[in-house]
Order: sequence, then structure tokens, then C-alpha cells
Amino acid sequence: MFGLGKTKSLVGLDIGSSAVKAVELRMKGSSYELVNLGIESLGQDTVVDGAIMDALSVSSAIEKIFNDQHIKTKNVATSVSGHSVIVKRVTVGANSEEELYSAIPYEAQQHIPFDMTDVNLSYQSLGPAPAGNGTDVMLVAVKREKILNHTNVLSQAGKTPTVVDYDGFAVYNAFEVNYEAPPEEMAALLNIGASIMNIVIARGGNPLFTRDVSVGGNQYTDTLQKELDLSFEDAEKLKQGLEISNVTQEQKLPHLRSVTEILMLEIQKTFDFFRQTTSTENIQHIYVSGGTAKIEGLIDQLKAEFNIPVEAINPFQRLVVDGKRFDLGYVDEIAPRMSVAVGLALRSFD
Ligand SMILES: Nc1ncnc2c1ncn2[C@@H]1O[C@H](COP(=O)(O)OP(=O)(O)OP(=O)(O)O)[C@@H](O)[C@H]1O
Ligand SMILES: [Mg+2]
Repeated sequence: MFGLGKTKSLVGLDIGSSAVKAVELRMKGSSYELVNLGIESLGQDTVVDGAIMDALSVSSAIEKIFNDQHIKTKNVATSVSGHSVIVKRVTVGANSEEELYSAIPYEAQQHIPFDMTDVNLSYQSLGPAPAGNGTDVMLVAVKREKILNHTNVLSQAGKTPTVVDYDGFAVYNAFEVNYEAPPEEMAALLNIGASIMNIVIARGGNPLFTRDVSVGGNQYTDTLQKELDLSFEDAEKLKQGLEISNVTQEQKLPHLRSVTEILMLEIQKTFDFFRQTTSTENIQHIYVSGGTAKIEGLIDQLKAEFNIPVEAINPFQRLVVDGKRFDLGYVDEIAPRMSVAVGLALRSFD
């Protein structure tokens, strides 16, 4: 999205609110091979709603991953999401690359509710508009301070920020490499992390619509904490299926269910808005990534609610992962959480 320099080998580095995640890939024949993989948990208030509050803790976590995993590559691709990121598909009255380039700042002013002096602007041409004149464009605007927030932490950790992407596009990138979605299929990708759900609706290699909602795994933990009178740590364990004293796994289920209802309401609202503004076609398939994809019952509830196929994204599905170097059980377990980092690492090969 925002290229900050010349790219070669890049480490995909996802700074999430629950953890920092790193992935490095290389080409092996015509496949991608996993070279390095790391995840380092962050304390509760270190990253809040996608904003880095405690830069020192984050840069220490980054350094720890690079040291522990012996990652030598310094160039990093990272991503942002949440309030300070606006992604909008617009039709611009321009028919060449040059016309487009000069029309974008004006178009952005019409569509982006931020002061243009405060944002970094990027765009991707999606080809001629189907309805008449002009070109369809995906506009991306990110508050400059948000980008600085991320790049400063990377510099502090001794890394070179090379690409800044949007979480949703990174997931889509990872999805495309691992899944052969039919070109006509209208797919919705849900990346449900600890505090943010990125929703990307795409077809045939083109994202058509994105929205970020401030809901995620923390909401489940909060609810269990309140309803069952638990500490944050115990609520997290219970949520993830681990045993804790005095509460059975069955007791958590109605509470998980009710939070999933809230998430589904947001998803439904987003689908409705998409159909009102972008395309009247129905969503045909849902793919879920992020740690919260593993909430017990979530996938089944989504299937029942939307009546379409729903599956979890495994970003390593088609990657070469050497069982002698990596614990395959562990890779499988953390897979849904690594989608953004895999998508970012793939920017090495753009
Ligand atoms: N087995 C599991 N079952 C249920 N929830 C899980 C499980 N494993 C992880 N989670 C939850 O997933 C969330 C972390 O997911 P992820 O790593 O995708 O988020 P993040 O990228 O750190 O957050 P965000 O993108 O919202 O800032 C946490 O809320 C965690 O409790
Ligand atoms: Mg995330």
C-alpha cells in the first residue's frame, strides 16, 4: 500500500493488540516456504484498538522475536487498521494512469473525512468502471500519525519499515495464495482479532469493500469475566478451552453465544450496507481468520445465520512448512492468528 523504499526480502510484522507476530518466507520452486515464524504476547494495555500505547514494550517484543528466531532480515512490512484507516472504492473520471494520478488528491478530498494534510494517501486502479466513463479505484487514506506510530516503533527496534499495508488487504493476500476461490464468488473475509474485526468483501482478486468494527476476542473475555466473576487470565483460559477451577466448559457456552450474536449483527449490518452501496449481489462464502476464529461454536453459528459455507483460513495451507524445523502442531494451532503476518511477508514477492 505505502511503499517506503526499495523492497527485497521482507519480514511480515503484525503488531496486534494481543501479540506481535512475525513471518518470513522465501521462494522454493514455484511455492512459498516458511523460513521464520514468531509470536510474542503483549500486555493488556500495550496496544489498544490498533494504537500503540507503550512503544517500548512493543519494540522489545519485536527485538525478542528477531533474536529468538535468529531473523537476520531487517526490512519489515507492517500494517495498520481501525479508526485512522479509510478504504473506499470510488469511480474517478479519468481514463489513463496520468489522469488518475492528478485526479486522486481532489477525489480523496471528496471521499475521505480527514484533513488531507494529515494523511498518507494511496490508491490502486481496479480498471475501467463497468457503468460508463472513468476508472474504479480503491482509495486508501491513513492518518500520518498512525503510520508514524508504527514506523517509529520499528525503527526503535532496529528494523527498517519498508511497506505499510492495511490488515484487511494483508489477510486477503494470504487468502489468495492459499485458496482457489472461484473467480465469480463473492467472498467475505472476517479477520477477528482481540479488539478489531476487519471485514473485506472481495471477488476475483479484487477487494470491493472493507470495514473495521471495534469488536473481537476481548469482548468474549470481558463477558466471561463479568458473568462468571473471573480474573482476566482465568477468563482467557476458559475461553480457549483450558481447565480452570470452579467453572466447567459448559458454563461458558451461553455467554460465548451471546457475544457471537453481537458480532453477527455487525457482520449483517456490513453486508446490508455493502449491498446498498456497492453491489446487490449476495455474499456466497465466508472465510474467518484471527485468533477469535477459534471461539467454540462461532463457525457453526455463522453458518446457521448466513446459510452459506463458512470456514477458517489457514494461511499456511499451501506453503511449504518443514516439519524438521517447525512443530507442525503448533503452526496449525496458531495459524488463524498468522494470516496478516503471512500476507505481509508475501509483499516480498510483489
Ligand atoms: N483457542 C482460542 N479460542 C478462542 N479465542 C482465542 C484462541 N486463541 C486465541 N484467541 C483469542 O484471539 C485473540 C487474538 O487474536 P489475534 O492474534 O488475531 O489478535 P490481534 O491481532 O492481536 O488483535 P487485533 O488485530 O484486534 O489488534 C485474543 O482475543 C485471544 O483471546
Ligand atoms: Mg490482528
